[in-house]
Amino acid sequence: MELASPPLSERRIVLGITGSIAAYKSAVLARELKRRGAEVRVVMTAGATEFITPLTLATLIDRPVHSDFTEDEHAGVWTNHVELGVWGDLIVVAPATANTLSAMVHGQCENLLQAVLLSARCPVAVAPAMDLDMFTHASTQDNLRILESRGVDIIDPGTGPLASGLVGKGRMAEPKDIADQVEAHFQRTLPWSHKRVLITAGPTQEPLDAVRFLGNRSSGKMGFALASAFADQGALVTLVAGPVSLATPERVHRRIDVSTAVEMNNAVQTCWADMDMGVACAAVADFRPTLTSDSKWHRANMPEAITLEENPDILHGMGQSKSDAQRLVGFALETDEGLDSAKGKLVRKNLDAIVLNTLQDNGAGFAVDTNKVTVLNKNGQALKFDLQAKDELAQKLVDLWRTTLIA
Ligand code: CTP
Repeated sequence: MELASPPLSERRIVLGITGSIAAYKSAVLARELKRRGAEVRVVMTAGATEFITPLTLATLIDRPVHSDFTEDEHAGVWTNHVELGVWGDLIVVAPATANTLSAMVHGQCENLLQAVLLSARCPVAVAPAMDLDMFTHASTQDNLRILESRGVDIIDPGTGPLASGLVGKGRMAEPKDIADQVEAHFQRTLPWSHKRVLITAGPTQEPLDAVRFLGNRSSGKMGFALASAFADQGALVTLVAGPVSLATPERVHRRIDVSTAVEMNNAVQTCWADMDMGVACAAVADFRPTLTSDSKWHRANMPEAITLEENPDILHGMGQSKSDAQRLVGFALETDEGLDSAKGKLVRKNLDAIVLNTLQDNGAGFAVDTNKVTVLNKNGQALKFDLQAKDELAQKLVDLWRTTLIA
């Protein structure tokens, strides 16, 4: 099974719409952002609702549009602008009128959208739309410069016929171009942007008969925590997962579910060449039964002995075909101290680093939420990480590899 998630998947975008004729294009923009996977909430000013109805937008985004501080005066329902400002990963004001740009510069708070903008913790982008003389006016240009200096992304308007009948610069950028810039925003602002990372996670199951298998106790938690940490840092993550009961972390680009080591190897082989980095976290069964049965072995017809044959060493294969630009990290789970064995694996499998965890340490290893590891780099450096939550450790490892392997 393969699931590909769209580029803005799990991104939360607040779309602010202000009173310009270009507001009609915001409907297309809202639909485009949703089509690319974003979760969209819309805040419209009173002016915007003169140009396009909230019902149109609400239908497109599948939830009510916010326009006022109170949703239902009689019931006393209040729109929490702080909550909206904190909820979003990005606020896009499109169209942004000269009036709204000025209000943003001066910190005015006369409508819900302005209040959301004042309480926002996330980045803001604006797509100005106005007549050409308003756009070129020194006040507007000064306002745009100030907003830019505060870190607001300005999505440049296009040139062409304007609603006034004049021709010039001022028409709002096309919805598709705005959506492209929204995507670019998420890619450029994060440390692992544009990097493709392949992660193997979980156990493999090697069938004996229709109901039994050889497996191991791996829960997949460490691999999934790494997938999540890489994706949060902007990487395009492909997660090849053995049988686990874990939900795909937010923003993971692609998940390929497999069952056996051979299936995992096939999945890895199809995509490894396109990756910048690989992290082999899976607990792959080294052997599989030579003979398997499509039906269940009954007590009377159980084989006397089970013979095994070797599975491919997936990580070894990745190391063999690794290019100079690719980076590869393996894991080693040892039952003793394991330092020498891990070093041996690092060399044998042509790795850049190996993460050693030993079952001697309480709270480390399979099926627990914590881990305690030592990272060995190929230059001989060893870094110890104390016992901590796998999520926390994953973030630290991702930061470490950003500076030691990719920078
Ligand atoms: N690995 C793999 N394919 C295999 C076996 C292991 O990709 N068939 C990867 C694991 O994902 C891990 C690393 O190799 O990143 C080390 O796994 P481990 O089981 O500790 O090492 P082995 O090479 O199997 O060595 P041994 O069984 O001798 O300890």
